[in-house]
Amino acid sequence: MKKNLLSTIGILASVVFLLIYFAGITQKKEDDKNKSFDEQIISNARQLFTEGQHVFRFETFGDEIFWTNTLKLHEAIEGSRFGGVGNGLSPTQALAAGLKVDLDALPPALVSRLKRGEVNLNDPAVTLELLKLNAVIGVVANVNTSNILNVANRPGSNSGALNSIGLTCAVCHSTVDNALAPGIGHRLDGWANRDLNVGGIVSLAPDLSIFTQLLQVDEATVKTVLHSWGPGKFDAELNLDGKAFRPDGKPAATLIPPAFGMAGVNNHTWTGGWGTVTYWNAFVANLELQGQGVFFDRRLNNAAHYPVAARAGFGNKRSDTDLITSKLASLHFYQLAIPAPKPPDGSFDKAAAQRGQAIFNGKATCATCHVPPLFTEPGWNTHKPEDIGIDSFQANRSPDSSYRTAPLKGLWTHTKRGFYHDGRFATLRDVVNHYNDFKNLQLTEQEKTDLVEYLKSL
Ligand code: HEC
Ligand code: HEC
Repeated sequence: MKKNLLSTIGILASVVFLLIYFAGITQKKEDDKNKSFDEQIISNARQLFTEGQHVFRFETFGDEIFWTNTLKLHEAIEGSRFGGVGNGLSPTQALAAGLKVDLDALPPALVSRLKRGEVNLNDPAVTLELLKLNAVIGVVANVNTSNILNVANRPGSNSGALNSIGLTCAVCHSTVDNALAPGIGHRLDGWANRDLNVGGIVSLAPDLSIFTQLLQVDEATVKTVLHSWGPGKFDAELNLDGKAFRPDGKPAATLIPPAFGMAGVNNHTWTGGWGTVTYWNAFVANLELQGQGVFFDRRLNNAAHYPVAARAGFGNKRSDTDLITSKLASLHFYQLAIPAPKPPDGSFDKAAAQRGQAIFNGKATCATCHVPPLFTEPGWNTHKPEDIGIDSFQANRSPDSSYRTAPLKGLWTHTKRGFYHDGRFATLRDVVNHYNDFKNLQLTEQEKTDLVEYLKSL
Protein backbone atom coordinates (compact mmCIF):
# COMPACT_ATOMS: atom_id res chain seq x y z
CA MET A 1 0.00 0.00 0.00
CA LYS A 2 2.64 2.40 1.26
CA LYS A 3 4.94 1.50 -1.62
CA ASN A 4 2.10 1.98 -4.06
CA LEU A 5 1.28 5.35 -2.57
CA LEU A 6 4.92 6.38 -2.75
CA SER A 7 5.27 5.34 -6.37
CA THR A 8 1.97 7.09 -7.23
CA ILE A 9 3.30 10.24 -5.55
CA GLY A 10 6.54 9.70 -7.43
CA ILE A 11 4.73 9.38 -10.76
CA LEU A 12 2.52 12.36 -9.99
CA ALA A 13 5.56 14.42 -9.03
CA SER A 14 7.28 13.45 -12.26
CA VAL A 15 4.18 14.35 -14.27
CA VAL A 16 3.89 17.68 -12.48
CA PHE A 17 7.60 18.26 -12.98
CA LEU A 18 7.35 17.38 -16.67
CA LEU A 19 4.28 19.59 -17.05
CA ILE A 20 6.07 22.51 -15.44
CA TYR A 21 9.15 21.71 -17.48
CA PHE A 22 7.26 21.65 -20.80
CA ALA A 23 5.18 24.65 -19.83
CA GLY A 24 8.49 26.37 -19.15
CA ILE A 25 9.85 25.43 -22.54
CA THR A 26 6.67 26.52 -24.27
CA GLN A 27 6.78 29.78 -22.35
CA LYS A 28 10.40 30.26 -23.27
CA LYS A 29 9.60 29.52 -26.89
CA GLU A 30 6.76 32.08 -26.70
CA ASP A 31 9.16 34.57 -25.15
CA ASP A 32 11.76 33.91 -27.83
CA LYS A 33 9.16 34.35 -30.51
CA ASN A 34 7.92 37.60 -29.01
CA LYS A 35 11.38 38.81 -28.37
CA SER A 36 12.57 38.06 -31.84
CA PHE A 37 9.54 39.72 -33.39
CA ASP A 38 10.09 42.72 -31.11
CA GLU A 39 13.60 42.74 -32.40
CA GLN A 40 12.32 42.53 -35.94
CA ILE A 41 10.16 45.57 -35.27
CA ILE A 42 13.05 47.53 -33.86
CA SER A 43 15.40 46.66 -36.68
CA ASN A 44 12.63 47.43 -39.19
CA ALA A 45 12.16 50.83 -37.56
CA ARG A 46 15.88 51.53 -37.74
CA GLN A 47 16.04 50.49 -41.37
CA LEU A 48 13.00 52.53 -42.39
CA PHE A 49 14.39 55.54 -40.55
CA THR A 50 17.81 55.36 -42.22
CA GLU A 51 16.42 54.68 -45.67
CA GLY A 52 13.73 57.34 -45.28
CA GLN A 53 16.22 59.99 -44.27
CA HIS A 54 18.25 59.20 -47.36
CA VAL A 55 15.16 59.36 -49.57
CA PHE A 56 14.04 62.68 -48.09
CA ARG A 57 17.47 64.25 -48.54
CA PHE A 58 18.95 62.69 -51.66
CA GLU A 59 16.37 60.75 -53.69
CA THR A 60 15.41 62.23 -57.06
CA PHE A 61 13.16 59.32 -58.12
CA GLY A 62 14.65 59.66 -61.60
CA ASP A 63 13.30 63.21 -61.96
CA GLU A 64 16.50 64.08 -63.86
CA ILE A 65 14.53 63.17 -66.97
CA PHE A 66 12.35 66.20 -66.27
CA TRP A 67 14.85 68.72 -64.86
CA THR A 68 17.73 67.77 -67.19
CA ASN A 69 16.38 66.27 -70.42
CA THR A 70 13.17 68.30 -70.60
CA LEU A 71 13.86 71.66 -68.90
CA LYS A 72 17.68 71.58 -69.43
CA LEU A 73 18.10 73.39 -66.12
CA HIS A 74 21.64 71.97 -65.81
CA GLU A 75 22.74 74.07 -68.79
CA ALA A 76 21.72 77.30 -67.06
CA ILE A 77 23.53 76.23 -63.88
CA GLU A 78 26.83 75.29 -65.58
CA GLY A 79 26.79 78.22 -68.01
CA SER A 80 28.42 78.43 -71.45
CA ARG A 81 31.92 78.20 -69.96
CA PHE A 82 31.18 74.63 -68.93
CA GLY A 83 29.13 73.45 -71.88
CA GLY A 84 25.76 75.03 -71.04
CA VAL A 85 24.14 78.38 -71.75
CA GLY A 86 24.44 81.88 -70.26
CA ASN A 87 26.71 82.95 -67.39
CA GLY A 88 26.06 79.98 -65.11
CA LEU A 89 24.88 80.18 -61.52
CA SER A 90 27.39 81.52 -59.00
CA PRO A 91 27.18 80.50 -55.32
CA THR A 92 26.17 84.07 -54.49
CA GLN A 93 23.27 83.84 -56.94
CA ALA A 94 22.33 80.37 -55.72
CA LEU A 95 22.25 81.57 -52.10
CA ALA A 96 20.25 84.64 -53.12
CA ALA A 97 17.71 82.31 -54.75
CA GLY A 98 17.39 80.59 -51.37
CA LEU A 99 19.38 77.43 -52.07
CA LYS A 100 21.19 76.21 -48.95
CA VAL A 101 24.64 74.68 -48.47
CA ASP A 102 25.24 71.71 -46.17
CA LEU A 103 28.25 72.59 -44.03
CA ASP A 104 28.74 68.95 -43.02
CA ALA A 105 29.31 67.95 -46.65
CA LEU A 106 32.27 70.34 -47.06
CA PRO A 107 35.86 69.15 -46.52
CA PRO A 108 37.66 70.96 -43.64
CA ALA A 109 40.09 72.69 -46.02
CA LEU A 110 37.20 74.25 -47.93
CA VAL A 111 35.52 75.33 -44.69
CA SER A 112 38.73 77.09 -43.63
CA ARG A 113 39.03 78.82 -46.99
CA LEU A 114 35.38 79.90 -46.79
CA LYS A 115 35.95 81.29 -43.29
CA ARG A 116 38.97 83.24 -44.49
CA GLY A 117 36.95 84.61 -47.42
CA GLU A 118 39.29 82.95 -49.92
CA VAL A 119 36.59 81.30 -52.02
CA ASN A 120 35.28 83.28 -54.97
CA LEU A 121 31.56 82.97 -54.47
CA ASN A 122 30.91 84.82 -57.72
CA ASP A 123 32.41 82.02 -59.81
CA PRO A 124 29.95 79.45 -61.20
CA ALA A 125 32.80 76.90 -61.13
CA VAL A 126 32.50 76.97 -57.33
CA THR A 127 28.81 76.05 -57.62
CA LEU A 128 29.87 73.03 -59.67
CA GLU A 129 32.38 72.08 -56.96
CA LEU A 130 29.66 72.34 -54.31
CA LEU A 131 27.36 70.18 -56.43
CA LYS A 132 30.12 67.64 -56.82
CA LEU A 133 30.42 67.50 -53.02
CA ASN A 134 26.64 66.91 -52.83
CA ALA A 135 26.51 70.01 -50.64
CA VAL A 136 23.66 71.96 -52.24
CA ILE A 137 20.63 70.88 -50.25
CA GLY A 138 17.96 69.18 -52.36
CA VAL A 139 19.93 69.44 -55.61
CA VAL A 140 21.53 66.21 -56.82
CA ALA A 141 23.98 66.55 -59.69
CA ASN A 142 25.99 64.11 -61.70
CA VAL A 143 29.15 66.12 -62.25
CA ASN A 144 31.67 65.39 -64.95
CA THR A 145 34.81 66.38 -63.04
CA SER A 146 37.20 66.44 -65.97
CA ASN A 147 35.00 68.98 -67.69
CA ILE A 148 35.17 71.39 -64.75
CA LEU A 149 38.94 71.19 -64.75
CA ASN A 150 39.29 71.55 -68.51
CA VAL A 151 36.82 74.41 -68.70
CA ALA A 152 35.22 72.72 -71.66
CA ASN A 153 33.49 75.13 -73.95
CA ARG A 154 30.96 73.14 -75.85
CA PRO A 155 27.70 75.12 -75.78
CA GLY A 156 24.54 73.10 -76.12
CA SER A 157 26.32 69.77 -76.02
CA ASN A 158 25.48 67.10 -73.51
CA SER A 159 29.05 66.73 -72.42
CA GLY A 160 29.38 69.77 -70.23
CA ALA A 161 30.32 69.80 -66.58
CA LEU A 162 26.89 68.62 -65.50
CA ASN A 163 25.68 65.31 -66.86
CA SER A 164 22.40 65.71 -65.03
CA ILE A 165 20.56 67.55 -62.32
CA GLY A 166 17.66 66.40 -60.18
CA LEU A 167 15.71 67.73 -57.20
CA THR A 168 14.69 66.13 -53.91
CA CYS A 169 12.11 66.89 -51.22
CA ALA A 170 14.79 68.65 -49.17
CA VAL A 171 15.12 71.56 -51.59
CA CYS A 172 11.82 73.01 -50.32
CA HIS A 173 11.38 71.21 -46.98
CA SER A 174 14.83 71.70 -45.42
CA THR A 175 16.93 74.64 -44.48
CA VAL A 176 20.17 75.17 -42.52
CA ASP A 177 21.08 76.84 -39.22
CA ASN A 178 23.42 79.39 -40.90
CA ALA A 179 26.27 78.19 -38.65
CA LEU A 180 29.00 79.34 -41.05
CA ALA A 181 27.28 82.13 -42.96
CA PRO A 182 23.74 82.96 -44.12
CA GLY A 183 22.60 79.93 -46.13
CA ILE A 184 25.57 77.75 -45.09
CA GLY A 185 25.13 75.52 -42.04
CA HIS A 186 23.88 72.23 -40.63
CA ARG A 187 20.76 70.65 -42.12
CA LEU A 188 17.36 71.25 -40.56
CA ASP A 189 15.12 68.61 -42.14
CA GLY A 190 11.44 69.41 -42.32
CA TRP A 191 11.85 73.15 -41.80
CA ALA A 192 10.15 75.15 -44.54
CA ASN A 193 12.61 76.93 -46.82
CA ARG A 194 10.95 80.34 -46.89
CA ASP A 195 13.90 81.85 -48.80
CA LEU A 196 13.68 79.54 -51.78
CA ASN A 197 12.55 81.24 -54.98
CA VAL A 198 11.19 78.17 -56.77
CA GLY A 199 9.65 80.17 -59.63
CA GLY A 200 12.84 82.16 -60.11
CA ILE A 201 14.93 78.98 -60.31
CA VAL A 202 12.56 77.16 -62.68
CA SER A 203 12.40 80.21 -64.95
CA LEU A 204 16.18 79.92 -65.52
CA ALA A 205 15.54 76.70 -67.48
CA PRO A 206 16.39 77.17 -71.18
CA ASP A 207 13.44 75.06 -72.34
CA LEU A 208 10.03 75.82 -70.81
CA SER A 209 8.05 74.20 -73.62
CA ILE A 210 6.76 71.44 -71.33
CA PHE A 211 4.85 74.12 -69.37
CA THR A 212 3.60 75.96 -72.45
CA GLN A 213 2.22 72.64 -73.74
CA LEU A 214 0.80 71.51 -70.42
CA LEU A 215 -0.85 74.83 -69.56
CA GLN A 216 -1.60 75.79 -73.19
CA VAL A 217 -0.16 79.30 -72.83
CA ASP A 218 2.86 81.07 -74.35
CA GLU A 219 6.33 81.24 -72.80
CA ALA A 220 5.97 84.86 -71.69
CA THR A 221 2.90 83.87 -69.66
CA VAL A 222 4.74 80.92 -68.09
CA LYS A 223 7.54 83.29 -67.03
CA THR A 224 5.08 85.85 -65.65
CA VAL A 225 3.49 83.14 -63.54
CA LEU A 226 6.83 81.75 -62.29
CA HIS A 227 8.02 85.24 -61.34
CA SER A 228 4.75 86.02 -59.54
CA TRP A 229 5.38 83.45 -56.78
CA GLY A 230 8.36 85.03 -55.00
CA PRO A 231 10.45 83.46 -52.23
CA GLY A 232 8.98 80.77 -49.98
CA LYS A 233 6.10 79.97 -52.30
CA PHE A 234 5.11 77.39 -54.88
CA ASP A 235 1.86 76.43 -56.58
CA ALA A 236 1.27 72.69 -56.24
CA GLU A 237 -2.15 72.83 -57.96
CA LEU A 238 -1.20 74.85 -61.05
CA ASN A 239 -0.42 71.68 -63.01
CA LEU A 240 -3.86 70.32 -62.08
CA ASP A 241 -6.28 73.21 -62.62
CA GLY A 242 -4.16 75.73 -64.54
CA LYS A 243 -5.24 78.56 -62.22
CA ALA A 244 -2.27 80.89 -61.87
CA PHE A 245 -3.98 83.92 -60.35
CA ARG A 246 -6.78 84.50 -57.89
CA PRO A 247 -9.84 86.54 -58.84
CA ASP A 248 -8.26 89.55 -57.05
CA GLY A 249 -5.22 89.28 -59.35
CA LYS A 250 -2.81 88.04 -56.69
CA PRO A 251 -0.67 84.93 -57.39
CA ALA A 252 -2.33 81.60 -56.64
CA ALA A 253 0.87 80.19 -55.09
CA THR A 254 0.90 79.03 -51.45
CA LEU A 255 3.60 79.11 -48.81
CA ILE A 256 5.95 76.14 -48.47
CA PRO A 257 4.73 74.56 -45.22
CA PRO A 258 6.90 72.83 -42.64
CA ALA A 259 7.12 69.05 -43.00
CA PHE A 260 7.75 68.29 -39.32
CA GLY A 261 5.40 67.40 -36.46
CA MET A 262 3.11 65.46 -38.80
CA ALA A 263 2.62 62.24 -36.82
CA GLY A 264 -1.00 61.97 -35.72
CA VAL A 265 -2.19 64.60 -38.20
CA ASN A 266 -4.72 63.18 -40.65
CA ASN A 267 -5.34 65.50 -43.63
CA HIS A 268 -2.33 67.14 -45.20
CA THR A 269 -1.34 70.30 -47.04
CA TRP A 270 -3.06 73.64 -46.57
CA THR A 271 -6.29 72.50 -48.14
CA GLY A 272 -8.51 69.58 -47.31
CA GLY A 273 -9.42 66.20 -48.63
CA TRP A 274 -6.27 65.27 -50.54
CA GLY A 275 -5.19 62.59 -48.11
CA THR A 276 -2.52 61.54 -45.65
CA VAL A 277 1.19 62.28 -45.65
CA THR A 278 1.92 59.25 -47.82
CA TYR A 279 -0.74 60.32 -50.34
CA TRP A 280 0.89 63.70 -50.66
CA ASN A 281 4.40 62.23 -50.83
CA ALA A 282 3.41 60.05 -53.79
CA PHE A 283 1.63 63.01 -55.38
CA VAL A 284 4.67 65.27 -55.10
CA ALA A 285 7.25 62.67 -56.17
CA ASN A 286 5.20 61.82 -59.28
CA LEU A 287 3.47 65.03 -60.29
CA GLU A 288 5.59 67.90 -58.92
CA LEU A 289 9.17 66.61 -58.95
CA GLN A 290 8.11 64.56 -62.00
CA GLY A 291 9.94 61.43 -60.85
CA GLN A 292 9.43 58.04 -62.50
CA GLY A 293 6.63 56.16 -60.79
CA VAL A 294 3.01 55.13 -60.48
CA PHE A 295 0.28 57.45 -59.26
CA PHE A 296 -3.43 56.82 -59.11
CA ASP A 297 -6.23 59.20 -58.06
CA ARG A 298 -9.38 59.10 -60.14
CA ARG A 299 -10.42 62.52 -58.76
CA LEU A 300 -7.80 64.04 -61.07
CA ASN A 301 -9.71 62.74 -64.11
CA ASN A 302 -12.47 65.26 -63.40
CA ALA A 303 -11.89 67.67 -66.29
CA ALA A 304 -14.22 70.31 -64.87
CA HIS A 305 -12.22 70.58 -61.65
CA TYR A 306 -8.74 69.63 -62.92
CA PRO A 307 -8.60 70.31 -66.67
CA VAL A 308 -4.79 70.22 -66.93
CA ALA A 309 -4.43 67.00 -64.90
CA ALA A 310 -7.23 65.33 -66.85
CA ARG A 311 -5.58 66.25 -70.19
CA ALA A 312 -2.19 65.01 -69.01
CA GLY A 313 -3.56 61.77 -67.51
CA PHE A 314 -2.13 62.55 -64.05
CA GLY A 315 -4.92 60.54 -62.40
CA ASN A 316 -3.34 57.34 -63.66
CA LYS A 317 0.36 57.79 -64.23
CA ARG A 318 2.45 54.72 -65.08
CA SER A 319 6.12 55.33 -65.87
CA ASP A 320 8.05 52.53 -67.58
CA THR A 321 10.21 52.11 -64.50
CA ASP A 322 8.84 52.78 -61.03
CA LEU A 323 11.46 54.46 -58.84
CA ILE A 324 8.95 55.84 -56.33
CA THR A 325 6.61 53.19 -54.90
CA SER A 326 9.35 51.18 -53.17
CA LYS A 327 10.50 54.31 -51.33
CA LEU A 328 7.15 55.54 -50.01
CA ALA A 329 7.17 53.47 -46.82
CA SER A 330 10.56 54.65 -45.59
CA LEU A 331 9.91 58.24 -46.67
CA HIS A 332 6.62 58.23 -44.74
CA PHE A 333 8.29 56.74 -41.67
CA TYR A 334 11.09 59.30 -41.64
CA GLN A 335 8.71 62.22 -42.07
CA LEU A 336 6.57 61.08 -39.15
CA ALA A 337 9.75 60.85 -37.07
CA ILE A 338 10.67 64.51 -37.55
CA PRO A 339 9.51 66.37 -34.43
CA ALA A 340 8.33 69.96 -34.37
CA PRO A 341 11.37 71.84 -33.04
CA LYS A 342 11.11 73.46 -29.60
CA PRO A 343 11.52 77.25 -29.43
CA PRO A 344 14.85 78.48 -28.05
CA ASP A 345 15.01 79.78 -24.49
CA GLY A 346 14.27 83.45 -24.28
CA SER A 347 12.39 83.56 -27.59
CA PHE A 348 9.08 84.17 -25.78
CA ASP A 349 7.80 85.48 -22.46
CA LYS A 350 7.02 82.42 -20.29
CA ALA A 351 4.56 84.05 -17.90
CA ALA A 352 2.65 85.68 -20.75
CA ALA A 353 2.62 82.37 -22.67
CA GLN A 354 1.07 80.64 -19.66
CA ARG A 355 -1.70 83.22 -19.48
CA GLY A 356 -2.05 82.90 -23.28
CA GLN A 357 -2.56 79.15 -22.98
CA ALA A 358 -5.62 79.72 -20.79
CA ILE A 359 -7.02 82.16 -23.35
CA PHE A 360 -6.28 79.74 -26.22
CA ASN A 361 -8.16 76.94 -24.45
CA GLY A 362 -10.88 79.18 -23.03
CA LYS A 363 -12.14 82.62 -24.05
CA ALA A 364 -10.64 82.59 -27.57
CA THR A 365 -11.94 79.03 -28.31
CA CYS A 366 -8.86 78.28 -30.45
CA ALA A 367 -8.52 74.80 -28.94
CA THR A 368 -11.89 73.67 -30.32
CA CYS A 369 -10.15 73.31 -33.71
CA HIS A 370 -6.46 73.39 -32.76
CA VAL A 371 -6.86 70.52 -30.25
CA PRO A 372 -3.75 70.17 -28.03
CA PRO A 373 -1.30 68.52 -28.22
CA LEU A 374 -1.78 67.89 -31.98
CA PHE A 375 -3.17 71.40 -32.48
CA THR A 376 -5.42 70.09 -35.24
CA GLU A 377 -8.57 67.98 -34.90
CA PRO A 378 -8.25 64.24 -34.39
CA GLY A 379 -10.45 62.93 -37.24
CA TRP A 380 -11.37 64.85 -40.39
CA ASN A 381 -9.45 68.04 -39.69
CA THR A 382 -10.80 70.43 -42.32
CA HIS A 383 -13.09 73.47 -42.34
CA LYS A 384 -15.13 75.44 -44.80
CA PRO A 385 -13.76 78.90 -45.59
CA GLU A 386 -16.69 80.53 -43.78
CA ASP A 387 -15.68 78.77 -40.52
CA ILE A 388 -12.45 80.79 -40.45
CA GLY A 389 -13.70 83.92 -42.21
CA ILE A 390 -11.65 83.87 -45.41
CA ASP A 391 -12.28 83.52 -49.17
CA SER A 392 -12.75 80.13 -50.82
CA PHE A 393 -10.31 80.39 -53.76
CA GLN A 394 -7.61 78.00 -52.55
CA ALA A 395 -10.07 75.73 -50.70
CA ASN A 396 -12.01 75.22 -53.93
CA ARG A 397 -8.89 73.92 -55.65
CA SER A 398 -8.91 70.91 -53.28
CA PRO A 399 -11.16 67.84 -53.50
CA ASP A 400 -12.90 68.79 -50.26
CA SER A 401 -13.36 72.55 -50.93
CA SER A 402 -11.95 73.21 -47.49
CA TYR A 403 -8.94 74.36 -45.47
CA ARG A 404 -7.02 72.00 -43.21
CA THR A 405 -6.67 73.08 -39.56
CA ALA A 406 -2.96 73.95 -39.47
CA PRO A 407 -1.05 72.04 -36.75
CA LEU A 408 0.55 74.95 -34.89
CA LYS A 409 3.70 73.43 -33.38
CA GLY A 410 6.96 75.01 -34.47
CA LEU A 411 5.28 78.20 -35.74
CA TRP A 412 8.38 80.09 -34.60
CA THR A 413 10.44 78.43 -37.37
CA HIS A 414 8.37 79.89 -40.20
CA THR A 415 7.52 83.46 -39.31
CA LYS A 416 8.94 84.68 -42.67
CA ARG A 417 6.39 85.42 -45.44
CA GLY A 418 3.38 85.38 -43.15
CA PHE A 419 0.68 82.99 -41.94
CA TYR A 420 -2.30 81.11 -43.42
CA HIS A 421 -1.85 79.26 -46.71
CA ASP A 422 -0.92 82.35 -48.73
CA GLY A 423 0.79 84.37 -46.01
CA ARG A 424 -2.07 86.89 -45.94
CA PHE A 425 -1.42 87.69 -42.27
CA ALA A 426 2.06 89.15 -41.89
CA THR A 427 2.36 88.47 -38.13
CA LEU A 428 0.82 86.27 -35.44
CA ARG A 429 -0.73 89.44 -34.01
CA ASP A 430 -2.53 89.91 -37.34
CA VAL A 431 -3.81 86.31 -37.14
CA VAL A 432 -5.14 86.91 -33.63
CA ASN A 433 -6.74 90.21 -34.69
CA HIS A 434 -8.44 88.38 -37.56
CA TYR A 435 -10.00 85.77 -35.24
CA ASN A 436 -10.89 88.50 -32.74
CA ASP A 437 -12.82 90.48 -35.36
CA PHE A 438 -14.31 87.53 -37.22
CA LYS A 439 -15.49 85.68 -34.11
CA ASN A 440 -16.12 88.80 -32.02
CA LEU A 441 -13.97 87.39 -29.21
CA GLN A 442 -13.59 90.76 -27.43
CA LEU A 443 -10.00 90.06 -26.45
CA THR A 444 -8.20 92.89 -24.64
CA GLU A 445 -4.85 94.09 -26.02
CA GLN A 446 -3.11 92.30 -23.11
CA GLU A 447 -4.95 89.05 -23.89
CA LYS A 448 -3.90 89.31 -27.54
CA THR A 449 -0.27 89.81 -26.50
CA ASP A 450 -0.45 86.79 -24.18
CA LEU A 451 -2.03 84.65 -26.90
CA VAL A 452 0.77 85.56 -29.32
CA GLU A 453 3.40 84.65 -26.72
CA TYR A 454 1.68 81.27 -26.30
CA LEU A 455 1.73 80.69 -30.08
CA LYS A 456 5.46 81.49 -30.09
CA SER A 457 5.98 78.88 -27.35
CA LEU A 458 4.48 75.95 -29.28
C1 HEC B 1 9.10 72.99 -55.04
C2 HEC B 1 8.96 72.94 -53.61
C3 HEC B 1 8.53 71.62 -53.01
C4 HEC B 1 9.13 70.39 -53.15
C5 HEC B 1 10.35 70.03 -53.99
C6 HEC B 1 8.40 69.49 -52.32
N1 HEC B 1 7.38 70.15 -51.68
FE1 HEC B 1 6.17 69.38 -50.30
N2 HEC B 1 5.06 71.10 -50.29
C7 HEC B 1 5.35 72.23 -51.02
C8 HEC B 1 4.22 73.14 -50.94
C9 HEC B 1 4.11 74.51 -51.59
C10 HEC B 1 3.23 72.49 -50.17
C11 HEC B 1 1.81 73.00 -49.88
C12 HEC B 1 0.96 72.55 -51.05
C13 HEC B 1 -0.49 72.95 -51.01
O1 HEC B 1 -1.11 72.93 -49.94
O2 HEC B 1 -1.01 73.25 -52.08
C14 HEC B 1 3.82 71.23 -49.73
C15 HEC B 1 3.21 70.34 -48.86
C16 HEC B 1 3.79 69.17 -48.42
C17 HEC B 1 3.26 68.34 -47.38
C18 HEC B 1 2.09 68.66 -46.48
C19 HEC B 1 2.58 69.33 -45.22
C20 HEC B 1 1.47 69.70 -44.29
O3 HEC B 1 1.38 70.86 -43.92
O4 HEC B 1 0.68 68.83 -43.94
C21 HEC B 1 4.05 67.22 -47.32
C22 HEC B 1 3.87 66.04 -46.40
C23 HEC B 1 5.05 67.37 -48.33
N3 HEC B 1 4.89 68.56 -48.97
C24 HEC B 1 6.01 66.41 -48.61
C25 HEC B 1 6.91 66.52 -49.65
C26 HEC B 1 7.76 65.43 -50.08
C27 HEC B 1 7.80 64.06 -49.48
C28 HEC B 1 8.50 65.90 -51.11
C29 HEC B 1 9.47 65.14 -51.95
C30 HEC B 1 8.91 63.97 -52.62
C31 HEC B 1 8.11 67.30 -51.29
N4 HEC B 1 7.14 67.62 -50.41
C32 HEC B 1 8.70 68.14 -52.21
C33 HEC B 1 6.53 72.44 -51.71
C34 HEC B 1 7.41 71.45 -52.09
C1 HEC C 1 -12.96 76.77 -36.87
C2 HEC C 1 -11.68 76.17 -36.59
C3 HEC C 1 -10.57 77.11 -36.12
C4 HEC C 1 -10.54 77.91 -35.00
C5 HEC C 1 -11.65 78.11 -33.98
C6 HEC C 1 -9.25 78.53 -34.97
N1 HEC C 1 -8.51 78.13 -36.05
FE1 HEC C 1 -6.62 78.70 -36.47
N2 HEC C 1 -6.74 77.75 -38.27
C7 HEC C 1 -7.82 77.03 -38.71
C8 HEC C 1 -7.61 76.66 -40.09
C9 HEC C 1 -8.55 75.84 -40.96
C10 HEC C 1 -6.37 77.22 -40.47
C11 HEC C 1 -5.68 77.16 -41.84
C12 HEC C 1 -5.94 78.46 -42.60
C13 HEC C 1 -5.21 78.51 -43.93
O1 HEC C 1 -4.46 77.61 -44.24
O2 HEC C 1 -5.39 79.50 -44.67
C14 HEC C 1 -5.85 77.88 -39.28
C15 HEC C 1 -4.63 78.54 -39.23
C16 HEC C 1 -4.11 79.15 -38.10
C17 HEC C 1 -2.79 79.75 -38.01
C18 HEC C 1 -1.77 79.84 -39.15
C19 HEC C 1 -0.84 78.66 -39.16
C20 HEC C 1 0.21 78.75 -40.25
O3 HEC C 1 1.04 77.85 -40.32
O4 HEC C 1 0.24 79.72 -41.03
C21 HEC C 1 -2.66 80.23 -36.73
C22 HEC C 1 -1.43 80.91 -36.16
C23 HEC C 1 -3.89 79.95 -36.04
N3 HEC C 1 -4.75 79.30 -36.90
C24 HEC C 1 -4.14 80.31 -34.73
C25 HEC C 1 -5.40 80.27 -34.17
C26 HEC C 1 -5.76 80.94 -32.95
C27 HEC C 1 -4.80 81.74 -32.08
C28 HEC C 1 -7.08 80.71 -32.76
C29 HEC C 1 -7.95 81.25 -31.65
C30 HEC C 1 -8.02 82.70 -31.59
C31 HEC C 1 -7.55 79.88 -33.85
N4 HEC C 1 -6.50 79.64 -34.69
C32 HEC C 1 -8.84 79.40 -33.98
C33 HEC C 1 -8.91 76.67 -37.97
C34 HEC C 1 -9.29 77.28 -36.79
